[in-house]
Amino acid sequence: MARVAVVTGGTRGIGAAIAKALSAAGCKVAANYGGNDEAAQKFKAATGIPVFKWDVSAYEACAAGLKKIEAELGPVDILVNNAGITRDTMFHRMTPEQWTQVINTNLSSLFNMCRPVIEGMRQRKFGRIVNISSVNGQKGQMGQSNYSAAKAGELGFTKALAQESAKSGITVNAICPGYIGTEMVQAVPKDVLEKNIIPQIPVGRLGEPEEIARCVVFLASDDSSFITGSTLTANGGQYMI
Ligand SMILES: NC(=O)c1ccc[n+]([C@@H]2O[C@H](COP(=O)([O-])OP(=O)(O)OC[C@H]3O[C@@H](n4cnc5c(N)ncnc54)[C@H](OP(=O)(O)O)[C@@H]3O)[C@@H](O)[C@H]2O)c1
Repeated sequence: MARVAVVTGGTRGIGAAIAKALSAAGCKVAANYGGNDEAAQKFKAATGIPVFKWDVSAYEACAAGLKKIEAELGPVDILVNNAGITRDTMFHRMTPEQWTQVINTNLSSLFNMCRPVIEGMRQRKFGRIVNISSVNGQKGQMGQSNYSAAKAGELGFTKALAQESAKSGITVNAICPGYIGTEMVQAVPKDVLEKNIIPQIPVGRLGEPEEIARCVVFLASDDSSFITGSTLTANGGQYMI
């Protein structure tokens, strides 16, 4: 029977590529998004993948959204925590709002999304959770103390939940993409991208969303059953650990 997969932030950028790739791999996919109705409707029309709008930084909204998906598609087997935002600025200028928005959307969302589905996964003895972290959670990045903290937090969360869930047939892994050509990266000034970022990437280019999606499909598959608590780095050689 087709697995049910939920992808947060699944209507644009990396998440849209993940949702499409999981659908092509035979999953019944639900794509969550936060506010861009136009992009979501365009994605739905192009792919036929149902879209569900809620804010992943709000626990009750996640619980209600997941309940709706489970009623329509069935119990969630695969959860991809992909939704994320940046609010870049140097720390000495950062506002409390810029800090909490990034922590809540990128990190607290993992609690908000995993908590409602984990008990069902434990009962059914199967689950695949994939958290989309970032190279900047591994190495830190100037102007991103909020984002780097959230993304590093995702890695700790991944390892702890992986240990708790291993005996229940649930794997929990993280992917750390490097710079991928999406709207999030297009927000970086062009000269910064060309002079400072691309020269640091040994393969000499930005990554494609599909290159991250293929990693997710593997970690969401039955083939990856012995891999849990791991961090898969996909950054064109930019940072090797
Ligand atoms: N792009 C990169 O180079 C890169 C590198 C490393 C890691 N990442 C990580 O990869 C993930 C995807 O990045 P991306 O570049 O594809 O971003 P993106 O193009 O900006 O798309 C972000 C997606 O997340 C959704 N989203 C944002 N806030 C949300 C909220 N509060 N609730 C629900 N959905 C929300 C957006 O929904 P709307 O369309 O409604 O706004 C959109 O679908 C993020 O976690 C990011 O940190 C990206």
